[in-house]
Amino acid sequence: MSPNKLAALSIMPAFTLREALLRMDQTARGILLVLRDDGILVRTVTDGDLRRAILNHASDASPVGELPDVKPVTANQDANAAGILQLMDQHQIDHIPILDSRGKPVDVIFRRELSQRIWLSSPHLGEEETMFVDEAFKTNWIAPLGPHVDAFERELASHIGVAHAAAVSSGTAAIHLGLVLLGVKSGDTVFCSSLTFVGSCNPILYCGARPVFIDAEPQTWNMSPAALERAFEWAKRENRMPACVILVNLYGQSADMDSLLPICERYGVPVLEDAAESLGAHYKGRSSGSFGRIAVYSFNGNKIITTSGGGMLVADDPDLVAKARKLSTQAREPAPHYEHTELGFNYRMSNVLAGIGRGQLRVLKQRVAQRRRVFERYVEALADLREVQWMPEPDGFQSTRWLTCFTLGGSDANVRCHRVMKALERHLIEARPVWKPMHLQPLFMGAPYFSHDPEMDVSANLFQSGICLPSGSNLSEEQQDRVIAHLRHTLLMAEDCSALA
Ligand SMILES: Cc1ncc(COP(=O)(O)O)c(C=O)c1O
Repeated sequence: MSPNKLAALSIMPAFTLREALLRMDQTARGILLVLRDDGILVRTVTDGDLRRAILNHASDASPVGELPDVKPVTANQDANAAGILQLMDQHQIDHIPILDSRGKPVDVIFRRELSQRIWLSSPHLGEEETMFVDEAFKTNWIAPLGPHVDAFERELASHIGVAHAAAVSSGTAAIHLGLVLLGVKSGDTVFCSSLTFVGSCNPILYCGARPVFIDAEPQTWNMSPAALERAFEWAKRENRMPACVILVNLYGQSADMDSLLPICERYGVPVLEDAAESLGAHYKGRSSGSFGRIAVYSFNGNKIITTSGGGMLVADDPDLVAKARKLSTQAREPAPHYEHTELGFNYRMSNVLAGIGRGQLRVLKQRVAQRRRVFERYVEALADLREVQWMPEPDGFQSTRWLTCFTLGGSDANVRCHRVMKALERHLIEARPVWKPMHLQPLFMGAPYFSHDPEMDVSANLFQSGICLPSGSNLSEEQQDRVIAHLRHTLLMAEDCSALA
């Protein structure tokens, strides 16, 4: 609800019943807020209150202030959607004003909105997934491996222009395998982007290796070439050259490969490209995930396409991918019995899930276009709110806008971000802070960290001031309009809490 709409619901105690009826008719929300001169809520007036007053022969010229006293049911700004719904049920009402600490309304929640949660990024199936899954059932290929796994690997590799692919149980599993394939051992150093999801770097610990975190740059929100360069100089001095660099492509956008790859090449260190969030994106015309010695994708339920859970390891080197397949099936040696000479994992994708993946891959281009459209609608609708800074997309980068993200400016950005997310949550809208950087996570306390600039910790700032909005390719325009309206309302309310007075 915009401040204007909230203002339209607000009346003074001196309003006559007739004026209140007219206002109720114009606003058609079934509730009006009766405010004192200083903007404090005195009571609410509902359709029912007005009807009862008229049935009791109250004059339509009598003021609403003379209606029988009823204490309004309200909630404060900390209330969440579940609590609000409980209050509605308890009092058998359909709307609840939200009051600030002084008792001024800042919002009204309507029961209708609370029937449908708007997710950050939910699975979006196409039309062919069930056909492939049915086929797996009909042919009894339910076990791991099978023709869909082979076909999914071929089709994905060809889609992104990489020679080989191995389908596995998750993106995290793919990263773990990738590290093992690149020879990461206990005690080794591994560089990794700090601004990411923990799945990027937990596998460093699985290997017994030691992470070193690299900051983001403001232009791409991905790894900072300046920080990477400084990290390499440090590693050389300390004799801690990394066994590999995990380069993450965040929120659907590639890292700046032309700046980053030559640095890694110069030091002779291989790159594991974490493209879990960037399937479908391009960098200077090439697919994201086609740059690292090894790259990985995730098909987790929130990703641009999903197999409900799954991942893919890709590489041009056939030996690496053949080894990935072996390691992901308990490293079984080619023998009639079960023979093992090295440590393996149970990481392979099942044939049923690969069937879902094949169907999803066919709609990937559509999903990219839909997510980009979601982003564009946000930008268009909120263009007048200058303080909203969208995640940049530099020339030559083609992001999928997997998640639409923005930052707020100012020293109180963090407080305001939390207020915004809380307000959206009250309306059952899921928004999230930008990833909490790994160098700030208790799990990685003490790991070396290289910021973009000695004076500027970019990923920490993005975490403090950034929000990810609902971005699903299946987000309807109506749902998005709801997000936009509430976002606009909270941003404007945050600026001017006296808008209602
Ligand atoms: C950047 C990044 N890396 C790795 C992963 C791990 O993928 P998965 O959840 O499939 O294990 C994810 C997300 O889930 C991710 O966002």
